[in-house]
Parts: sequence; structure tokens; C-alpha cells
Amino acid sequence: MPHSVTLIPGDGIGPEVAEATVRVLEATGVPIVWERAELNQELILQSGGAIPEPVLESLSRTMVGLKGPVTTPVASGFQSLNVALRKRFDLYANVRPVKTFRGLKTRYEDTPIDLIIFRENTEDLYSGLEHEVVPGVVTSLKVITRKASVRIAEYAFHFARRVGRKKVTAIHKANIMKLGDGLFLRCCREVAAKFPEIEYNELIVDNASMQLVMRPEEFDILLMPNLYGDIISDLAAGLVVGLGLVPGANMGDEHAVFEAVHGSAPDIAGKGVANPTALMQSAALMLLHLGEEAAARRLQRAIEDVYAEGKHLTRDVGGQASTREFTDAVIDRLA
Ligand code: NAI
Repeated sequence: MPHSVTLIPGDGIGPEVAEATVRVLEATGVPIVWERAELNQELILQSGGAIPEPVLESLSRTMVGLKGPVTTPVASGFQSLNVALRKRFDLYANVRPVKTFRGLKTRYEDTPIDLIIFRENTEDLYSGLEHEVVPGVVTSLKVITRKASVRIAEYAFHFARRVGRKKVTAIHKANIMKLGDGLFLRCCREVAAKFPEIEYNELIVDNASMQLVMRPEEFDILLMPNLYGDIISDLAAGLVVGLGLVPGANMGDEHAVFEAVHGSAPDIAGKGVANPTALMQSAALMLLHLGEEAAARRLQRAIEDVYAEGKHLTRDVGGQASTREFTDAVIDRLA
């Protein structure tokens, strides 16, 4: 039986990296029937800021999506449709593995980085509850609930146990937000107590940022609320050479949407130079989710081999290759 997957190319570099990723997935031989659904700035404006119905219908049916980035206007305009989608399908766990590629020159030559970010994906300051009290005074509500905090912590610890990871670090600012981040931490501690074989520690987010830059190899699983997860993800991407590389999975109990950490990169859109690695690695995570372990491993190894060889890399990671040349190299490896 072929798998049905909703393909949302998005906008900016989205359609370029999505096309590249569909090509490598085809080369794995895994039968996938794509339901293509458009989601981009123009459509969102037309729909008055709502998620277009075809996207909702398709994802409700297929339960699995592969998604490119979507541009969100800054400081005005519609609310982020990425956030709306995660809420609509209750994709509460944002999982982002950050790993050094063998052969790729980083600032951390002798210290391979291999960490995974577990970011709560439905609340915190992303609840979008903002309000102008009087002209010149605005409040933005940070929502932290016990339910969402326990379930992201359980997700991270269960994952750690399943794959044999050793340590979970909770990241917070509970010295200042004593109630909100304090509740998040209490939930993490409660869950940690049920997993005695996994080391648990806590770091304040500012200190965590410095430790990540100085000693990234010491981190294993990072567990945090939404906003810190967003920021730390880009920081961590910088440790392994950049946003072109880091994949992600938005996981719910029923639905899952796989997408890169990066955005629509308007500065390079349409030039054929975007690095499709992040979406390709997201697709490898999707294959795992679909139960296609062997194909997931083959795809991941093919990407790693292209990096180890170093001849067909895109500009963002120090190479000269176009999106297409990199993609062809991955397909050659798969063959
Ligand atoms: P961005 O991630 O799009 O770009 C940051 C920098 O990284 C740029 O210099 C870009 O050229 C580079 N870059 C990103 N991905 C790359 C790739 N695959 N290959 C080569 N270089 C790459 O972040 P920015 O500029 O802050 O956001 C642009 C738009 O994307 C905004 O409207 C933002 O809201 C949206 N966005 C959407 C996301 C999503 O749909 N999941 C996630 C993050 C941002």
C-alpha cells in the first residue's frame, strides 16, 4: 500500500527544496502518493489569514505532512500560519536533531555535536494573545499549562529511553518567571523522577546559550518551552554550520508534519542555490514515522556520504553546487 502524504511546498525557497526532496524520496523507491496543498503568503492574505481549507482537509485525511517554510510578515499582518497549523492538529512536540556531518568543516573540529531539541509547540508566548492596554502599552501573554508541560516532558523522556539517550537538560528562566517557567520545571522534575536511568539537569536559558557555544558536545537532549526552543534551535543550527542542515518533526498523537527549522529565506529564493538537506533529513524522519526504517537509513546515509565526499555541497556550507547538483549527488548515492 502506498503512503498518502500531504506535500505543502510553502513559499520562498520552499518549492525548490520541496521538489528536491520529492526527487530523493522517489529515488528511495518508497511508494508515496502526494496530495499537494498550497500554503503561501498570497493565499493566506486571500483567505483573510486563515489556513486554506484544502490544507486542513488533506492533512486530516493523510495525517502526515511534508512542509516547506511559509513567510510570515513581521510586526503586522496575519498571525503565523505555522503556529496555527501546529495548534489545529495538536502537534505538541517539536523535535529537532542537530548533528555534525562527517567531513564538513565546523568551528568544533574535534568535538562532534549530537543533540536533540524537544520544544513544546502549542503555547508559551506563541499563544498569540496580545493586547494594547492603552496606546503605548502592550501585553503579550505567556501561557504555560501543566498539561502541555507534562506531555512534552514525557515525550522527551520516553524518546530518550527508547533510543538509549543518557541525559535530559531542561531549559528555563524560572528565576524571573517563577510561576510560568516554575510550573514547566516542576512538571519536568516530576516526569524525570519516573526515569531514574536518565540523568536530568536544569539550566537557565542565558547560561544554556553560553554553554552550548562553549561545550556543545556535552548536551544530549534539550527540553524547553516554545520560545526558548525556537531561539536555541537556530543557535544550535549555527553550531553545525547553519540552517540549511537542521531537520524537524512536529508530532502529535495522531498527526505529524515534518519540516526544516529554517524559514523561507527570501534573500536566496528563486536562485536555485538553497540547501535542501534540512528538508531531506526531515523526510528521513518522516520515513521512520511511516515505518520505512530501511529507506530512512539509506536516505540518511546517502546525504551523509555526499557531505563526507564534499564535492557537491551548496554555498551555505562552503561549496559551489546548486540545489539540483546536490540533489543529483544524493540520488547517485541512493542508486
Ligand atoms: P530564514 O531561516 O528564512 O533565513 C535565515 C538565513 O539563513 C538567511 O540568510 C537564509 O538565506 C539562510 N538559509 C535559511 N535556510 C537556508 C537553506 N535551506 N539553504 C541556504 N541558506 C538558508 O529566516 P528569516 O530570514 O528570519 O525568515 C524568513 C521568513 O521565514 C519569515 O517570514 C519567517 O517568519 C519565516 N519562517 C518560517 C518558518 C516556517 O515556515 N516553518 C520558520 C522560520 C521562519
